[in-house]
Amino acid sequence: MDGSYSPEFKDFFVDELKDIYWAEKHLTKALPKMQKAATSEELRNAFADHLAVTQTQVTRLEQAFELLGARPVAKKCDAMAGLVEEANGIIDESEKGTSIRDVGLVLAAQKVEHYEIATYGGLVTLAKTMGNDELSSLLEETLAEEKETDELLTSLAEGGINSAAATEGMEQEEEGEETEEEFDSINLKKKTAKK
Ligand SMILES: [Fe+2]
Repeated sequence: MDGSYSPEFKDFFVDELKDIYWAEKHLTKALPKMQKAATSEELRNAFADHLAVTQTQVTRLEQAFELLGARPVAKKCDAMAGLVEEANGIIDESEKGTSIRDVGLVLAAQKVEHYEIATYGGLVTLAKTMGNDELSSLLEETLAEEKETDELLTSLAEGGINSAAATEGMEQEEEGEETEEEFDSINLKKKTAKK
């Protein structure tokens, strides 16, 4: 690949940068709400950490614009707008302080990560096509961070959030069963007394 490309190709690439630039900025506004809504401390910390990472990614995108001699402009990304809307829907529809809410938030966050992995993966490949090594390694840094976050979310889900949600509210039922047993023992006493 000799790295030559048309002005239209460059415009297309810059347009895609504008899209993910909007997406990352939008996410910096959504993450504090997700952090506040999360039940487990681990998940809250994960969202807090990812907010800091996302802010770095915004700066990295500004560097990418600069490398191409383009102005950093954000252009609405409908996909990220929708994904964040879904996360807000989970918060609205789930009860505060529950593990079910955390399961929903982890799923919503992983959908965001997978969208970003797809986007940065594509952009890295295109930057390589353009023969711009500096640009491709810059975007590769972010791609690696998104993959790491996705893996962290999986480990949080496997590490307790999913199982906590699966059995949530079952203690009450068990208490109910105990009451039944108490009834049985009362009945037994009555039967024994009759004899
Ligand atoms: Fe990101």
